[in-house]
Amino acid sequence: QTEKELLTSTVQMTNGVLKKIQTISLSEPSSPSTSSKPESPQKSPLPRPKTPTEPSPSTSTPVTSVASPSSTSQNRNILRHEPNFDKFDRPQLPIDVVEQQLMYELASHETLIIIGETGSGKSTQVPQLCVRAGLADSGSIAVTEPRRVAAVSLASRVAVEMGTDVGGIVGFHVRFENATTHKTKIEYMTDGIVLRKALISPLLENYSTVIIDEAHERSLHSDVLMCILKKCQEQRRKGKNPLRLIVMSATLQADKFQSYFDNAKVVLVSGRTFPIEVFHVNPKINKSFSSSDYVYNTVICVKHVHLNEPKGHDILVFLTGSEEIEAVAYQLAELNGSLPASADVIMPVPLYAALRPEKQKEAFKKTPQGARKVIISTNIAETSVTIPGVRVVIDSGKVKIKTFEASNRIDVLKVHNVSKAQAKQRAGRAGRDAPGKCYRLYSREDFQKFEIDNMPEILRCNLSATFLELMKLGMKNPHRLQLIDPPKTENIDAALLELTSLGAIRPLNSDKSKFALTDMGDVFCMYPVSPDHARVLFHAQKEGCVMEAIKIISAMQTDALFSGGSDSKNDAEVERIRRKFETREGDHITLLKLVLTTNLFFDELNKKTEADARYGKSNISLEREYNLAIRKFCNDNMINEQHLKTASMIEEQLKQIAIEQEVPFSTCGNDFTKIRKSLATGMFLNSCEYDRQEDRYRLMINPAITLKIHPSSCLSRSKPAYIVFSELMKTNDLYALQVTLIDVDWVRPLISEHKKMRTNHLAESAQRIQEITNSAPKRKKAKTE
Ligand code: CDP
Repeated sequence: QTEKELLTSTVQMTNGVLKKIQTISLSEPSSPSTSSKPESPQKSPLPRPKTPTEPSPSTSTPVTSVASPSSTSQNRNILRHEPNFDKFDRPQLPIDVVEQQLMYELASHETLIIIGETGSGKSTQVPQLCVRAGLADSGSIAVTEPRRVAAVSLASRVAVEMGTDVGGIVGFHVRFENATTHKTKIEYMTDGIVLRKALISPLLENYSTVIIDEAHERSLHSDVLMCILKKCQEQRRKGKNPLRLIVMSATLQADKFQSYFDNAKVVLVSGRTFPIEVFHVNPKINKSFSSSDYVYNTVICVKHVHLNEPKGHDILVFLTGSEEIEAVAYQLAELNGSLPASADVIMPVPLYAALRPEKQKEAFKKTPQGARKVIISTNIAETSVTIPGVRVVIDSGKVKIKTFEASNRIDVLKVHNVSKAQAKQRAGRAGRDAPGKCYRLYSREDFQKFEIDNMPEILRCNLSATFLELMKLGMKNPHRLQLIDPPKTENIDAALLELTSLGAIRPLNSDKSKFALTDMGDVFCMYPVSPDHARVLFHAQKEGCVMEAIKIISAMQTDALFSGGSDSKNDAEVERIRRKFETREGDHITLLKLVLTTNLFFDELNKKTEADARYGKSNISLEREYNLAIRKFCNDNMINEQHLKTASMIEEQLKQIAIEQEVPFSTCGNDFTKIRKSLATGMFLNSCEYDRQEDRYRLMINPAITLKIHPSSCLSRSKPAYIVFSELMKTNDLYALQVTLIDVDWVRPLISEHKKMRTNHLAESAQRIQEITNSAPKRKKAKTE
């Protein structure tokens, strides 16, 4: 039997979630529930958008219909209002068919939920529609994306469509890159940026409309943002400039969102640009595949597709992380040696967040003649990204997810099955510019067992940083926070205990269930880092090592600066380079040494470049030599160039904040004790004592938890008596990551204070749970924060 015969075909992509709501059409003025009332309760106090013609019931188009030539020309007329739009002739999209209806709904509702297949035109067209509807007259249109790559690429695309440059009418704002100006009317942003904007200006007065795109991703920031925006809407409804909210997704449990937004209007944009055929592989019965090794199966499947699909159809593969991706890229390159002479060359192109931007751009470049590009990606290419030429998607069905166990403050990193919503998004990447195919490396039966939606991040992360931000906004009792999926009471309490122990908040004397920011907490909020890292910076000021703390904390915000085994280096070389930076004090000081070495290198390089410029070298060759020198330095020292760049941008940001806060830039020189003391004081909850008998470390705040120092740490062999770590990660064992040697006297008083607080806190928390249980039916009516 050939592999092809063993691939079981399914009909077009169908999925339980969408089927359920596909019965709704725009011609029905009601919500997807059975109600037939024409209006949702939130009557619009909104200024009337410039609707070209309001559809009467008889003209309203059911969304299930496809675009007819007449509707096309009608829509083109509307589109011509757009300045310079004619310069860009984009293909017809399903959303064009319902444009007038959407305009009408925008006019009548404060909140809209738009659900449409991937590629139907939501992310690119809805913001433009808002501009055409006149909504940008009273403020800009903010569009939030879960990932920076999506925000950047959508802004470029829409700028082209609107015949403007990025930074003109259309711009983007992601961390460290703000391409917006006073002219910008459509701002694509990451949800984290919008959240920070809301912290600075809680009513978001600069925006008339906020569009939450890819809401199904359920990122922590978008869930919190929805909660803030609801409050913001309430406040702005009282004034003259109400806030419009649009929630968009391809797959969403619409009823859940609808009831969250007070029975908001749901609009379904039906139809997709191009069909996608989905195939399921059943590795359990197909002998060509392994029953458990999805990485191996990926290579087999790429080979199958390469030998059977037409030339020129590029492939997009979804895997879970950089190591897997690089391994598959290597194996695919090797495969070229065994292909028939008539076959094209396989061109593997890795794509993951840690890659240098130039490397990431490879995925978007035109495939050379005689080659087939195989982009091997993590879920960064899952949503809102169009990679031209991709006609086949191979979905491993797996994703790496970090889950926080709040009771023990442990991060658990595990490979999970994707949700049905994710699988659908992945398949959708194949039909962006032509009909496509998706090969799923799991059986249809297994697919049916996948969760419908992604597990919301808010249910699986440490909540302390978010609560601190919300308290800055005036929230007093997180238990009253009105979120779509409220976290467990224990998780909320764990975050409150953490913040109280770190000195960032304190319970109010009048009501112990309410909390207020302390002065120290107020300072923590200035820094866009976790509360314990902010506390390190705070204490560094007292110790006199602010410069060093900023450098270390900045480096800690990125993934590992050391890139690990590099392409051409053997084990001995790798070991030699590691040793060069290693210190007795631990990984944080090692990190500092690395950053200081790169600072020296850049000083030298800048001097050399300036001198070369004075001697009249051209800018082009100066730039080339500059970049080459950086690349060589990073490669020689096994430094991840992209992470280094991110760390130095964060360093600049933190320095800027310190300047604004009038914090003196003290330095401790070679007296690393000061910086170790700051690290220990800031992160004292992560202090451990060595248990010689067990040959493991015990967490000082909870000695029942035992762990090992991760082998990547420079202290993994010396095993000092007391350490503090940055992160606790559970993989095949429980490991402390980034470890520093400490003096127990620095943390002992803090830990005993924490234990006392915990005892009180546990008692209060038990009482709270009891109260909640007793008053369960009444709770719904409780006033929300
Ligand atoms: O948001 P949704 O998935 O509904 O669609 P979209 O992102 O607005 O994309 C609509 C169409 O625009 C896609 O089918 C692509 O052909 C095109 N597009 C593109 O070429 N480049 C982008 N960066 C985004 C979209």
